[in-house]
Amino acid sequence: MRPPRRSFLARAFALAVAGFAAPRTFTAIASPRFRAPPFALGVASGSPTADGIVLWTRLAPDPLGDGGLGDEAIEVRWEIAHDERFARIARRGTATAEPGRAHAVHVEAAGLEPARAYFYRFLAGGEASPAGRTRTAPAAGADVARVRIALASCQHYEQGWITAHRHLVADAPELVAFVGDYIYESRWGRAHMRKHHITAPKTLAAYRRRHAQYKTDPDLQAAHAAAPWLVTWDDHEVANDYADDRGQDLAPDFLERRAAAYRAFFEHLPIRPSVLRPDGEVRLYGAHGWGSLANLFVLDDRQYRAHQACPRAGRGGSNTVGPSCEEREAPGRSLLGAAQERWLDSALADSRARWNVIVQQTLFATAGRDTAQGRLHWTDGWDGYPHARARLLDSLASSKAANPVILGGDVHANYVCDVHREAGRLDTPVVASEFCGTSITAQGPDSKRTNAVRESNPHIHFADGTRRGYVLLDFGREIATAKLRVVDTVKEPDAGISTIASFAVESGRPGVKPA
Ligand SMILES: [Fe+2]
Repeated sequence: MRPPRRSFLARAFALAVAGFAAPRTFTAIASPRFRAPPFALGVASGSPTADGIVLWTRLAPDPLGDGGLGDEAIEVRWEIAHDERFARIARRGTATAEPGRAHAVHVEAAGLEPARAYFYRFLAGGEASPAGRTRTAPAAGADVARVRIALASCQHYEQGWITAHRHLVADAPELVAFVGDYIYESRWGRAHMRKHHITAPKTLAAYRRRHAQYKTDPDLQAAHAAAPWLVTWDDHEVANDYADDRGQDLAPDFLERRAAAYRAFFEHLPIRPSVLRPDGEVRLYGAHGWGSLANLFVLDDRQYRAHQACPRAGRGGSNTVGPSCEEREAPGRSLLGAAQERWLDSALADSRARWNVIVQQTLFATAGRDTAQGRLHWTDGWDGYPHARARLLDSLASSKAANPVILGGDVHANYVCDVHREAGRLDTPVVASEFCGTSITAQGPDSKRTNAVRESNPHIHFADGTRRGYVLLDFGREIATAKLRVVDTVKEPDAGISTIASFAVESGRPGVKPA
């Protein structure tokens, strides 16, 4: 039985509880005294444009507790410089770290030059943050020869060391695309290396503490300090397998929990304050241009999705279903929601970029398994929403957007796929190329499982869930390459890195080839 959909009033109440209203005005303390170093969570930048960037930090002298700053608002100065020593300042200003936002600061710096590297830092009470490096995007239409993007997801703190991020920094990407499970709300999996310091969060205070613990990891801080990030979320930023207003446990107060989790996510990531909408929506989806070379379309497939089809009795969330699940095939079901689908249709139609990169959370190509009971589908991914996938494929075809490349995560495995005009139908043309990246640490499927998926899906050219890491993508004018970078182990903090496979996509020829 599906519970009735929440009324507008119930939603409004949940959002008021979580405090999405505009921040109050405070008189900020200009010269605070800190009991401990206040920049313990590092710095970050994100959402680069041709003339601006979002800079982030959060003052937290007691990062694993309540932050340690009480109810005082604190003045924070910020600087953007051409050089690492901050001798040649490009822009500077002040911001207010407010208690209602966990003393997080989101600076939307503007007036910068396109396609330039910059250094940035924050100053408060005589303390300076570590310096971060960032860069602006090339100007719209600028002829750009290449861009290097690292694709990452799924960093369970307990399951291993986040060493992959250290190697990602050494690979020097110009952008990091993080596609979800930035935190995990819950403890699961085998052979933990370290512990979440609180149980599964449900309140704003608890989600803040979970984010802060992840943010204390030096390798994660280094990855943020090395390049601007584009981020979207998946389910574990809130709770496993949630869909819009419904958690898998069908808890009646799920929307309150979701609002708390959304707010803590905003407070810890370098995203624009304008993502917070008055009605409680957090508008993460959007387009990010990189000159004439690439448009990156960041999607959100959690916040607006239809509930998963045919859940187990008395539960929400995912299931693995066979042909008897008719709900999966209902034409109106959407993974992105109607508004995001319309936006993506027109954004793709308007794009003149050489590469059109869809940055989303999960495996796009069909990955069902053919069994004696018929073809089995996992309902949490695109396979649970086949008509929504068909609409996106229609949109790619009708827009004529050049060279679509789909990036994903979520499934803790590398999948490299040709995406056909009709999902899984090899007799229809290949219209896009897909790189679904493995997890930074979270445990993945064994080879038996991925081999079974490959055997049922010849459009999947590579599948491996046994290794952890990230994908390094180089987009050039004529060719894009993807290196599947994997760490030797997540059980040692100093593990090495290697490339288990490399693939290429030629401009004008959709589909992946070994490189
Ligand atoms: Fe995950």
